[in-house]
Amino acid sequence: MDLHGRSLISLKDFTPEEIRYFLDIARKVKNERQNKIRKQRFLGMTIALLFEKRSTRTRCSFETAFGEEGGHPVFLSSSDIQLGVKETVEDTARVLGRMFDCIEFRGFKTRHVELLAEYSGIPVINGLSDDFHPTQVLADLMTMEEQFGSLKGRKLAFVGDGRNNMANSLMIGCAKMGVDVAIVAPDELHPEAALVKMAEGFATEAGSSVLITSDVDAGVKGADVIYTDVWASMGEESKLAERIKLLKPYQVNPSLMAKTGKKSIFMHCLPAVRNNEVVPEIIDGPSSVVWDEAENRKHTIKAVMLALLGVENN
Ligand code: CP
Ligand code: NVA
Repeated sequence: MDLHGRSLISLKDFTPEEIRYFLDIARKVKNERQNKIRKQRFLGMTIALLFEKRSTRTRCSFETAFGEEGGHPVFLSSSDIQLGVKETVEDTARVLGRMFDCIEFRGFKTRHVELLAEYSGIPVINGLSDDFHPTQVLADLMTMEEQFGSLKGRKLAFVGDGRNNMANSLMIGCAKMGVDVAIVAPDELHPEAALVKMAEGFATEAGSSVLITSDVDAGVKGADVIYTDVWASMGEESKLAERIKLLKPYQVNPSLMAKTGKKSIFMHCLPAVRNNEVVPEIIDGPSSVVWDEAENRKHTIKAVMLALLGVENN
């Protein structure tokens, strides 16, 4: 498999085989780290880490994964650089492309990640935009595989803000990898019809299914995974009061978990707001795998960088 030179904006642009490839490399690098096998596959390389929004897991994953393999990560927040402020995104991209081997971008507009990829001429990785969070979904798929042994035929129910970056990306990633996915959200917060249609197409090819529903009982029934995320994503904080009203019936608590009718696991991309989208009893309880998920961010992000930079076999 040769992914050298590609950019990762959304998993919609990658085939199930290519996603499988990322997951296989991630498992290999996790194993290396657990066995204290140190490699220097990024030696002499540089990555620009552009962050318009805050981050703990994503930044630390990129920075440690790249640095521990001999590469030099450069962190640039929006108060450090001109990105669409006093310089166009295209011009910033052209300059970064002359100096770096790779770019990570976390910000608002997905269009900006696309422009960075188009104009820099180097691989660009979306570290979260308003619409997508592809590297998180790779970590989620890896975690599910660790829990269940395989992905095909499992069911994940995302309960909460069904139109945010996580709902969108889980819908795409799960559908592609043969995981039945349900987006369980009030009507006002359902994903865009065009994206649902696209995910349904991926599901047909993979033999999985996509369900969009406001009915909690129907949506979570039979789910192996209950997944949730914050009720107001970064940049939408002013909507929180309205969201709390809309989403209260979708809170992940013991009664919602019981509706799966199974011994399901609980997942969350983090950061979490306890007593909004999930109660402590669940996120801090025995069904929660959120810390494995957080750790797997690092291994999957390293896998993506290795593949896009073409050094995964070094
Ligand atoms: N899950 C995730 O992306 O975490 P951070 O916002 O801390 O990077
Ligand atoms: N939906 C959340 C995800 C954080 C990792 C946000 O965009 O803030």
